[in-house]
Amino acid sequence: MKSEHVPTGIPGLDDILGGGYPRGRVILITGSPGSGKTLMAMQFLVDGVERFDERGVFVSLEESKYHLLSEMENFGWDLEKYEKKNQLAIVDASPLRQISKVKEENLPEEEDQREVKLRGPEFSISALSTVIRSYARVTRATRIVIDPITSLSFQFPDDQTRRTAIIDLLDSLMSMGTTNIITSELGPLVGSAPGERQIPSEEYLCHGVIVLHSTYVSGRGIQTSLEIEKMRETKHDRQLHPYAITEKGFIVYAERVLG
Ligand SMILES: Nc1ncnc2c1ncn2[C@@H]1O[C@H](COP(=O)(O)OP(=O)(O)OP(=O)(O)O)[C@@H](O)[C@H]1O
Ligand SMILES: [Mg+2]
Repeated sequence: MKSEHVPTGIPGLDDILGGGYPRGRVILITGSPGSGKTLMAMQFLVDGVERFDERGVFVSLEESKYHLLSEMENFGWDLEKYEKKNQLAIVDASPLRQISKVKEENLPEEEDQREVKLRGPEFSISALSTVIRSYARVTRATRIVIDPITSLSFQFPDDQTRRTAIIDLLDSLMSMGTTNIITSELGPLVGSAPGERQIPSEEYLCHGVIVLHSTYVSGRGIQTSLEIEKMRETKHDRQLHPYAITEKGFIVYAERVLG
């Protein structure tokens, strides 16, 4: 039987996560700009390809594919090589491509001519799901990333429709049997207590939530730390752990951040 947990590809994280991400679920990685959300998510897909022959689909909703590829080159990853081998699909749904025409050489005939509106008023979760499903089928993906969902979820007028849309998206991902990561920006600060912030619906709805914190520590500058806010079906650590981004990627340290 397959393990219940999928290794995260992040050195140090599996140990504090009880083995990895729960298989077949949807995990949210949330953090401030530049905290490493995209990196963490991509590292999961790259590790899948390199160590487990598990294929992945990465849907980029804000960054163009060009920029994504060049940023990830910093970590020594040749993502185009994986794409050519059909081990990875990068779907560019960034604003630069207002309308994404699903036209990739390796997509099946019936999908080839489909014009799918991924952004703007015509955007729909079902259009996004259709695109993801097509790519997942072609690559036979077992891992999916959507990065980030922030602007997607903000286009819904009220909390209830937003919540319903997120539930639809999560259901669609779960129905594919893949292990999934979505990313988002941290909710805005509210109240007067330091770090107190608004909790967006996706944090309640996803199976697991990892929060990337940046805090200013007097005399030490900015300290980055990772918190497992929740991980259903998993006995996990609840402490803050320092993390770093190096030329090899994202790494989490076993020691605890002391307050
Ligand atoms: N070789 C490297 N060594 C150390 N840090 C690096 C290296 N290359 C890139 N970085 C840093 O890694 C981070 C990459 O972050 P990433 O793009 O994953 O963040 P993000 O949370 O997705 O940001 P955004 O909110 O802008 O999408 C950046 O802060 C960048 O400065
Ligand atoms: Mg990013």
